[in-house]
Amino acid sequence: MRITLFGTGYVGLVTGACLAEMGNHVLCVDIDADKIAALKQGVVPIFEPGLAPMVQRNHAAGLLDFTTDAAAGVAHGEVLFIAVGTPPDEDGSADLRHVLAVAASIGEHLRDYAVVVNKSTVPVGTAERVCARIDQALAARGVQVPFDVVSNPEFLKEGDAVDDCMRPDRIIIGSDSARALALLKRLYAPFNRNHERIVAMDTRSAELTKYAANAMLATKISFMNEIANLAERVGADVELVRQGIGADPRIGYHFIYPGAGYGGSCFPKDVQALVHTAETHGYAPRLLQAVEAVNQAQKQHLFALIQRHFGGDLRGKTIALWGLAFKPNTDDMRAAPSRTLMEALWGAGAHVRAYDPEAQRETRRFYGERADLTLCVQPYEALQGADALVLVTEWKVFRSPDFARIRAALATPVLFDGRNLYDPAAVESAGLAYYGIGRGRSV
Ligand code: UGA
Repeated sequence: MRITLFGTGYVGLVTGACLAEMGNHVLCVDIDADKIAALKQGVVPIFEPGLAPMVQRNHAAGLLDFTTDAAAGVAHGEVLFIAVGTPPDEDGSADLRHVLAVAASIGEHLRDYAVVVNKSTVPVGTAERVCARIDQALAARGVQVPFDVVSNPEFLKEGDAVDDCMRPDRIIIGSDSARALALLKRLYAPFNRNHERIVAMDTRSAELTKYAANAMLATKISFMNEIANLAERVGADVELVRQGIGADPRIGYHFIYPGAGYGGSCFPKDVQALVHTAETHGYAPRLLQAVEAVNQAQKQHLFALIQRHFGGDLRGKTIALWGLAFKPNTDDMRAAPSRTLMEALWGAGAHVRAYDPEAQRETRRFYGERADLTLCVQPYEALQGADALVLVTEWKVFRSPDFARIRAALATPVLFDGRNLYDPAAVESAGLAYYGIGRGRSV
């Protein structure tokens, strides 16, 4: 099939590459000319395992191409995906400017029937707004062209995006048109493994499904962070509690890992947007507000532990950070807990020495060169002259470190384990003080 994707961010690029991999002819459109030029040379602007070779292979095979020309994009596709960003507005609501701009552009150039698919995470009712914007642009041209708008939210995780896209656990298609549904079922048929993955529904339910999924996962994390904070106060180990409750299949082991708070481009933004949606419909979403508040507080938790350990005075201290990305296998620093921590450390007069396998360039992009930040080329280099080590992101490379070497390198032997990655006994037997999240009495 001929597919066009508007937006070559995470979702657009991964979806485009995976659809090309299935033999479709895919054209990706973006307004960023530098990005398009780079993609045409096979340069993928984000770090995502498996994505670059897939893009290069399909581009070379003539199945995946890139352009800044929106008219060419509309002319190419029988299915037109909108996969542009929906950044949060100041009040937390999703900013639909980019989505509606693409809709207008589709209306300006549409000549034959097409299915317009919302892949971006968009508030309930957006499919109707996209439809109205296309109609408006068609009316301005004085023409009538049939089209349908479908909501087909994306559930890929950064770091696993290619695999999630190639082997989805569900494909949500919100559509009020049998013709559009049939077309999308044909497009997604190769992604159905063993049993039917497609869940068809109306557009509003599909839009809410996306937010409900992310909000549920964020709720699990905030719940577990709250239990961890309680564990610290009552002298329990949240890691044992986690295993104890996860064994119940109704609870499950996924997304109950306490830590430094959830980050990334989705959970913080989507929980806030859902709160905003609820409030604009006259409903006070008390649980979701608490999920957000617990997360804000949790992002300060590591800093509070460090500050207390050093008697409240961090001036002149050097703190080593292992991990900067909001989670492993990505270079994404959006809403990363490491940023809250670094900013608090700098505010308290401390120097940060940090190592991350992929996110150093992004860190520089956010903070530039600054005297109180040293980015190191390997993990142990970050420890030189440091007073403490903080594990922030659980990259595999940090899983089994040499604790004796850590102890020898640190001026004051203390390790803050922001992901409960380590066995406290192993750390302490190497002569390091250990702080985890919710592991026994540290409050
Ligand atoms: C999330 C969802 O998992 C995807 O299903 C969804 O498609 C995506 O948002 C989206 O809306 O686009 P992502 O943001 O890539 O994916 O990352 P996650 O793996 O969900 O992690 C989010 C944050 O939660 C990370 O900061 C992670 O460290 C944290 N987390 C996760 C915990 O603190 N504890 C856990 O048990 C799990």
